[in-house]
Amino acid sequence: MKDIIRSAHIGMKFGMSHIEGAIAYGAEIAAICDSDPSNLKFAGVRYNIGEDKWVSDYHDLLSRKDIDLVTVAVPDQLHRVISCDFLHAGINVLCEKPLALTREDCEEIIKAERESGAKFMVGQICRFTPAFEKAKEIISSGQIGEIYFAESEYAHDYGSFLETWRAEPERHGVIGGGCHAVDLLRWLVGDPKEVFAYGTHMLLPMVTYDDATIAVLKFDEETAGKVFVSTGCKRDYTMRTVIYGTKGTIICDNTSPEMTLFTVDEKGLTKEPEIIKIPVNSHNAAREFEVFADAIKNDSPVETNAVEGAKTVEVCRAIVKSSVTGEIVKPNYNF
Ligand SMILES: NC(=O)c1ccc[n+]([C@@H]2O[C@H](COP(=O)([O-])OP(=O)(O)OC[C@H]3O[C@@H](n4cnc5c(N)ncnc54)[C@H](O)[C@@H]3O)[C@@H](O)[C@H]2O)c1
Repeated sequence: MKDIIRSAHIGMKFGMSHIEGAIAYGAEIAAICDSDPSNLKFAGVRYNIGEDKWVSDYHDLLSRKDIDLVTVAVPDQLHRVISCDFLHAGINVLCEKPLALTREDCEEIIKAERESGAKFMVGQICRFTPAFEKAKEIISSGQIGEIYFAESEYAHDYGSFLETWRAEPERHGVIGGGCHAVDLLRWLVGDPKEVFAYGTHMLLPMVTYDDATIAVLKFDEETAGKVFVSTGCKRDYTMRTVIYGTKGTIICDNTSPEMTLFTVDEKGLTKEPEIIKIPVNSHNAAREFEVFADAIKNDSPVETNAVEGAKTVEVCRAIVKSSVTGEIVKPNYNF
């Protein structure tokens, strides 16, 4: 088992949350990297990381022997090339969600992970949000019975991102952001067998993709689900999620600082709800980093590996396809 994890971090915007995770974990920061000198300097100064560790071209890190893991937080379009370069160099990779934007890119990352023997984790961060971890625990305990319906929404006002890579056609909001809601339902309920979706395009005429999409998911004959994605919404960011079971209901609504749990009495009647004070909308990058670093230290498997990330992208892509063709689409989980 390794004593100290030495980490390098690429992309100094959201990627700064990975630095914070590394610091909280007690990792040694071996390098930080950004192609934009001002973002690199900002992060270096902010976290008191010496200039000798600032790197502007990630290729300079590929032959380094003093790096146990690299975190990748660059535009989604670059996930495949940068992740594969590090995996081929034998360096463990924690890459931001979504795994990639196309099936081909997902398959390349899976191949690189398999061939390299290095560990790979896709940052499906909702699996580390305290309220969603708690929801998973409650479902697994059987407290709300069998799930018959589950819904999650990703509503995020992209108004200020429209000059960036987020507005490019291949970065459909359902894949780039909606992957949070899709992955959460896959984790809490399972893999949907079929999806049907409908999209509208009223708020962001300057992007080519729909800015609102509603998808109905069929998990099996007894269980259905819904995902709503809005990237033009006029409200604060939300990942509101509700899980309906035969014996209870879990409501995780980030507009309140708590989750609500309904269960039934011995007669099967709904009791007064239990209010659980727990963060509902926390981006728990520290926990995410901890889980990956522990997997490296202990040489244990990573739950959100490349195949798991690819399955989430596959459901997102099926939703987009259905919204365009008007047909029911069956995701292909054969990776
Ligand atoms: N988990 C979450 O909740 C969450 C939240 C925000 C973003 N993200 C993901 O994180 C990633 C980054 O998003 P962001 O908001 O930080 O984007 P951003 O555009 O704000 O920042 C990206 C950074 O990467 C740098 N960069 C771009 N190309 C590079 C390269 N080739 N080498 C080195 N640096 C490069 C840019 O200069 C910039 O500093 C995306 O994949 C996004 O989907 C995840």
